[in-house]
Amino acid sequence: MLAAVGSAVGLGNVWRFPYFAATYGGGTFLVTYLVVIAVFGLMMMIAEITIGRATGLGPLGAFRTLHRRFAFLGVIAALTPMVIFPFYSVIGGWVTRYAWTFLTGGAADAAQAGHFGAFTSQTWQPILWLGVFVAVNAALLLVGVRKGIERVNVIAMPAFIVMVLALVVYGLTLDGALAGLDYFLRPDFSQLSLNTVVAATRQTFFSLSLSAGVMLTYGSYLRKDASIERSAMQAAALDTTVSLLAGLLVIPAVVAFMGYEGLGQGAGLLFITLPQVFASMPGGAFVGAVFFALMFVAAVTSGISLMEVPVATVMEKTRLKRRGAVLVVAAGTVLLALPTTLGFGVWSEFTIGGMNVLGQMSFLTDVIMMPLVGLGTAILVGWVLGPKVIAAVVRQNGHRFRTERLFSVTMRWIAPVVLVLVLTTSLLMALGVIPPL
Ligand code: PFF
Repeated sequence: MLAAVGSAVGLGNVWRFPYFAATYGGGTFLVTYLVVIAVFGLMMMIAEITIGRATGLGPLGAFRTLHRRFAFLGVIAALTPMVIFPFYSVIGGWVTRYAWTFLTGGAADAAQAGHFGAFTSQTWQPILWLGVFVAVNAALLLVGVRKGIERVNVIAMPAFIVMVLALVVYGLTLDGALAGLDYFLRPDFSQLSLNTVVAATRQTFFSLSLSAGVMLTYGSYLRKDASIERSAMQAAALDTTVSLLAGLLVIPAVVAFMGYEGLGQGAGLLFITLPQVFASMPGGAFVGAVFFALMFVAAVTSGISLMEVPVATVMEKTRLKRRGAVLVVAAGTVLLALPTTLGFGVWSEFTIGGMNVLGQMSFLTDVIMMPLVGLGTAILVGWVLGPKVIAAVVRQNGHRFRTERLFSVTMRWIAPVVLVLVLTTSLLMALGVIPPL
């Protein structure tokens, strides 16, 4: 459970959720997201954990064992973290750099207009910081302290939540913040579109670490006396709580400082807004330092989960031992991260359908690869193995499975329909038939 929470709660919640909510319609996105999480995300998490527990294997072995024809899902699932971790490290690098800046007295600098763009558009500085982020993850995996880090989380996570809560309260006292709160919470269903559903589904995959081999692997570790359903519910609930709090903090603050136009800032939203919040409060330099340090911890616990799957795959497929595998994956990650980080600077002209390299990478993973694996998993569970087989595993050791009916309907109908929709839309977009999201 702790491992699952460590993986789920990360940059996806604090950095990406607010910016997705801001971009895709505030309250309309929020409500759609909550529905997608409850009806689809949670059920998919249960499916993945159960497959992991039933087979005791990682993605490659698990899908191969369950059905020969579905073995390719394991391959895509194993490749997914290899694409995510590099771009995750770019953002992780930004967090590391902001933590460092705040810790070394640069709070006022960081609040200047243009600071974020000036930093991310450089060539070497962001590469250096993403290297630091990857090195920290690699070092922690090398000394084998994954368990230790999860325990750090027992303190860091509640501390982070309390801190964000306090900041939310402060943020709402800012002039103009209530208009932002209204935007974030009030749905306007006339604005609901396929775009909203696609965005909510992407965010669900990413935030819950689904269809990337991670939850499956953790399912194979989960103790037999732990309830799969309860563990998944707790992880999903905690993950959603952190996202909600991050939204409550960032979106009202953006509107307070920049008005509604501020909402369109995309990936920089958090990094541009929060330093201004900190600058406006007494003791803000210290608060900001603690905030970014805790955010760094959350990023690392997710980063480790992303790095672990490729490391395991490299060990399985080559003769390398753990040490060699970690080094190879770390070096590969930094190399693969270069286009993404340069996409904010010298390569910013290189866009596809209006997306810079970061946009392209996240499109590839959470619009194509993850939905593909999710679709395959739903068909495998819903139609080939049958939901009853999975339910029997969930109920082993006398555990209950209260959401079994929803689980069946989601695996057989809802997930296939929604995911086919997501995949077709994305294909049409990639082919230029409809404009990009
Ligand atoms: N769930 C993580 C986050 O929200 O930051 C990101 C992530 C981790 C995605 C692991 C996928 C994954 F396999």
